[in-house]
Amino acid sequence: MPRATSPAPPSPCTAAASGPPSWTPRTSTNPEPSEVVVPQRAQQRAATTPDRTAAGRVVVVTGAGRGLGRAHALAFARAGARVVVNDLGVALDGAGGTGRAAAANGSPAGQVAAEIRAMGGEAAVSTDDVADGEGAARLVRTALERFGRLDTLVNNAGFLRDRMLVNLGEDDWDAVVRVHLKGHFLPMKHAAAHWRAESKAGRPTRARIVNTTSGAGLLGAVGQGNYAAAKAGIAALTLVAAAEFGRYGVQVNAVAPAARTRMTERTFAADMAAPADGGFDAMAPDNVSPLVVYLGSDASDGVTGRVFEAEGGRITVMDGWRRAARADKGAQWEPGELDAPLRELLRRSPDPECVYGAE
Ligand SMILES: NC(=O)c1ccc[n+]([C@@H]2O[C@H](COP(=O)([O-])OP(=O)(O)OC[C@H]3O[C@@H](n4cnc5c(N)ncnc54)[C@H](O)[C@@H]3O)[C@@H](O)[C@H]2O)c1
Repeated sequence: MPRATSPAPPSPCTAAASGPPSWTPRTSTNPEPSEVVVPQRAQQRAATTPDRTAAGRVVVVTGAGRGLGRAHALAFARAGARVVVNDLGVALDGAGGTGRAAAANGSPAGQVAAEIRAMGGEAAVSTDDVADGEGAARLVRTALERFGRLDTLVNNAGFLRDRMLVNLGEDDWDAVVRVHLKGHFLPMKHAAAHWRAESKAGRPTRARIVNTTSGAGLLGAVGQGNYAAAKAGIAALTLVAAAEFGRYGVQVNAVAPAARTRMTERTFAADMAAPADGGFDAMAPDNVSPLVVYLGSDASDGVTGRVFEAEGGRITVMDGWRRAARADKGAQWEPGELDAPLRELLRRSPDPECVYGAE
């Protein structure tokens, strides 16, 4: 057998033996893509004019009892939408839950719905499990029965069970992949079935789906194999759904947020803390919601099949897998002749970005 003649290409990043396991926000040590500077005038307008970007829409937000989902639900309500606030009320690792039998008003979803009503908005409560077939169907029915329509679905619910792969139990794999990946698929399927029926009945829709992926899914994250795989799956599912649902007038995009919630506030306490001097609190979850409201509204016409990172005041288009350098022999390769051309292909292609938690 011919042997490799040159050393392996240097790996751009290697997992630290016990590295931080999560989606540590990118910092200035990583190259930034070209940045669009927001004109001062636009900043002032945003501060003074009430924003009714989602007026008249009916929006379902999953996992909206806490954290980012709560911020999205409140932001949609402020922007004029009627909101179905969904949350199963589980612990950080998915355990427990308020269950459907629990009084909806005492649940995290019920509390957020009460907040919306207190500010003059309209809200309905769902305590359904988004990863359950009947629960996801009931979630969509809740919007149709309570408000007579559905315009936007925000898939956001989820939880974590972080372990290094070698220690990751099957239950922890199954639970995390189920809640994120199936928990996106099922609500999308039921919402899209409704929008397809509307489209076939000659009632055009401008429907929107906003999915929640993660830097962990887009770039990888040490200690989060289950979560990263599920979130990468959500990015791929977003592209497929955008391609399939476009004919029904449905746009589908995904957001990879970074914000201070119970998921991140302990592990990344220093990165996530609010500034002591009262300056811009970049890691507040509310900062992610304007992009979600925009993508979930009429205003985003024509924007579909895209993945964005959102953190503080920063929005980044994530440019996913695309073909880089290519070699074509026009015949079958021998394994032993691949070394030189493969290294040349890698030399001509951009280096991958580092996996979070690798160094
Ligand atoms: N916080 C971040 O920096 C960050 C970064 C990347 C991605 N995300 C993603 O954002 C989303 C929201 O996370 P968060 O940080 O606000 O966490 P969170 O724990 O504050 O909120 C998640 C909510 O989802 C609910 N939930 C869990 N399983 C459910 C189910 N089966 N059905 C219905 N509701 C369910 C929980 O009860 C909880 O209230 C998640 O998908 C998370 O993976 C968060």
